[in-house]
Amino acid sequence: MVCLGNICRSPLAEGILQSKVIDTVVVDSAGTSGYHEGASPDPRSILVAKKNGIDIANQRSRKFVASDFNNFDLIYAMDDTNYHNILKLSTSEKDKNKVRMIMDELYPNGYINVPDPYYGGDEGFDNVFKMLDEACNVIAKKIITNER
Ligand code: 4NP
Repeated sequence: MVCLGNICRSPLAEGILQSKVIDTVVVDSAGTSGYHEGASPDPRSILVAKKNGIDIANQRSRKFVASDFNNFDLIYAMDDTNYHNILKLSTSEKDKNKVRMIMDELYPNGYINVPDPYYGGDEGFDNVFKMLDEACNVIAKKIITNER
């Protein structure tokens, strides 16, 4: 799960998907920027997760790196800027094919971004949670039924 800072959106995506797949697969998250390397998730993300029964407080921000292409089968971008920045680090067609826009899981080729909630209010975090929860339902179902 990849966003810009790895403190708002992708930590939520990691926590939500992990809660749905339990230990079936390894779920991780990262940011394209590294601005917040080592930081805890934004308190507003921790809170919205907690309200929904998910604990993300122990996550720490890290930068997305090229070797992530070797360690993960699927890479979900939260928005189109993240998507293009991830692709810039790819070195093969195999790498490129691993990268998806997360909302495409619900609306294929819908070009829908999960909006960056960092500079907004709490309602932005509720909206992000809802979007990611719906997208992760589709991803988890595919994982559990072995479609990927
Ligand atoms: P995220 O949100 O990409 O969902 O973690 C952001 C967090 C921090 C910044 C931007 C977006 N920032 O500019 O510091």
